[in-house]
Amino acid sequence: MKKVLITIILFTVHIIGFGQGNNYVQNYKKFEGLALTPPMGWNSWNKFACNVDEKLIREIADAMVSTGMKDAGYTYINIDDCWHGERDSLGFIHPDPKRFPSGMKALADYIHSKGLKMGIYSDAGSQTCGGRPGSRGYEFQDAQTYAKWGIDYLKYDWCNTESLKAEGAYKTITAALRKAGRPIVLSICEWGNDKPWEWGASVGHLWRTTGDIYNCFDCINDHVSWKSWGVMQILDKQDRLREYAGPGHWNDPDMLEVGNGKLSEGEDRAHFSMWAMIAAPLIAGNDIRKMDRKTIEVLTNKEVIAVNQDSLGIQGFRHSIKDSVETWYKPLKNGNWAVCYLNRSKSPKPVSINWQQTAVADNFAKRGFLPNQTNYSIRNVWTKKMIGDVKKDLKAVIPGHDVLMLVLAK
Ligand code: GLA
Repeated sequence: MKKVLITIILFTVHIIGFGQGNNYVQNYKKFEGLALTPPMGWNSWNKFACNVDEKLIREIADAMVSTGMKDAGYTYINIDDCWHGERDSLGFIHPDPKRFPSGMKALADYIHSKGLKMGIYSDAGSQTCGGRPGSRGYEFQDAQTYAKWGIDYLKYDWCNTESLKAEGAYKTITAALRKAGRPIVLSICEWGNDKPWEWGASVGHLWRTTGDIYNCFDCINDHVSWKSWGVMQILDKQDRLREYAGPGHWNDPDMLEVGNGKLSEGEDRAHFSMWAMIAAPLIAGNDIRKMDRKTIEVLTNKEVIAVNQDSLGIQGFRHSIKDSVETWYKPLKNGNWAVCYLNRSKSPKPVSINWQQTAVADNFAKRGFLPNQTNYSIRNVWTKKMIGDVKKDLKAVIPGHDVLMLVLAK
């Protein structure tokens, strides 16, 4: 009898405790099973900044399909800052009625009808970087709203976050998204300030590692109180971060500037190649409604994209630098390797590769590249041609600010 009584008491305590748990315990862990390869899509910011409306977004969704980008793997149509209107008297956020008169649900329905997904933007602080309403204090309400609209991806920025600490603030929005119940990719955008690679993997699916990209190949744009960074400057800031990336949790070196008119054709190619090599999210930032053939060729190069989307999800690494030419390696599935030679100088550089004397150990991924033991075939993924195997030395000249990108297959 005593035993039965104790069991009943324990059971009751358990039930009460469980009930309280439901009320007060938050789940600070992101939705698993999303972004198992680096997310691919488009974002409005780099090209359009605050100039966004539903007509543009619909046309972008149409272009995603008609240009072949969807076929190449691009999925997310992400609206960045400035879509916001006001909060209503109950605190619910609404889109700008002039720019998005049909509302976000209708827009998400349209995007979904094309087989694509929709992303939106908010900020952990009181206001977004563009001065629109932020989510601070409204996190659970906003997450419910996004879920109701059918949002699939949230970029969550870090302006106006007085006294907040990044890890805690991002955990709050994660808990809010969990409670809202719709699996949404969370893109942490606090510019690498608080080392998000150290705490971000359980909280979000990708995290910005740097400040904003600037549309140049090799320069810094100094705004006095902050800086934005050229493609090469961003690349250099990825050093020592590769061990933090993997399926479902990626380093994000910011969105692409490919096709935005400031980079040469070779620079666009080099930018895209390096983002592929470092398993970066491939979020196009140009006007994909009006692309020339060269830009389409870069953004939809399926062989380069396959390197980025390789299911192992191992971020590539810089192995060596010789006379301004960097050699990067990325282990791929089935024991294959991507190898990319990046010419950082403006003048053409010759490379001469003696494969038989090449031996690379990737201690992090615990993989070795040993061409003197395995006869890899070599494919140039930009010319899309097989160019022999590793028995013979490879000689090439790489134009200034360009790459030679190869896949070596067993
Ligand atoms: C920050 C972000 C950018 C962009 C703008 C929008 O600068 O880092 O990517 O979202 O805000 O205002």
